[in-house]
Amino acid sequence: MSFQPFVPISSASQISLLPELSSEQSLGSQAWLLKGYALPHAGAIFEAVADALEGSPLRKMSTARGWMSVAQSNCGAYGWVSDRTGYRYATSDPLTGTPWPAMPPVLYQLAVNAAQHVGFGAFDPQACLINYYEPGSRMGLHQDRDEADLKAPIVSVSLGLPAVFQFGGLCRTDPVQKVGLEHGDVLVWGGVDRLRFHGVMTVKSASSPLAHAHRLNLTFRRVT
Ligand code: SIN
Ligand code: FE2
Repeated sequence: MSFQPFVPISSASQISLLPELSSEQSLGSQAWLLKGYALPHAGAIFEAVADALEGSPLRKMSTARGWMSVAQSNCGAYGWVSDRTGYRYATSDPLTGTPWPAMPPVLYQLAVNAAQHVGFGAFDPQACLINYYEPGSRMGLHQDRDEADLKAPIVSVSLGLPAVFQFGGLCRTDPVQKVGLEHGDVLVWGGVDRLRFHGVMTVKSASSPLAHAHRLNLTFRRVT
């Protein structure tokens, strides 16, 4: 599974996005969508992810129910892994047998700043899950609850192809909000919203040949 460079967006489209940079939308009492928050750092994020993937390449993980459609890897002290026996955090990459690549400072700082921006001071993420969606990939509704520390928020950065994020409630059957995520958007959820079910609907290919060919999502979490 190779990580293909994104086509850089033109300066014209960056300019048209500027008015959105500071807008933030509340999705719950402790959940926010920060539109375009990561946009100024997109190039540096992309380079940092490409570096990390040199050490721990993308791969599709299996679950008790079959293969995931999203290709994944991790950076940071802990990485989230799945196999037929279940989900867990590991300090080493089962594929390489070596520790996950360190979390690049640009990624760490972006996550800390985004959390702080909405009132979660002192977020100290230990894991960055790298999710790489080809058109046709999706992620089913789930809760992030493999972390021993559920007090820390989750910061989730989206780049590349747009996607529809499903943000549900604390029960799987609760109504689901559909949230459009675009290149540069950041979600932060924690506190009373920390265990809300969420997922990503099937990613569609870009309608314009100049647009991105994949979606990249970075999910930052405190594990211990
Ligand atoms: C996840 O929940 O791990 C990923 C969410 C996303 O891709 O936006
Ligand atoms: Fe998740």
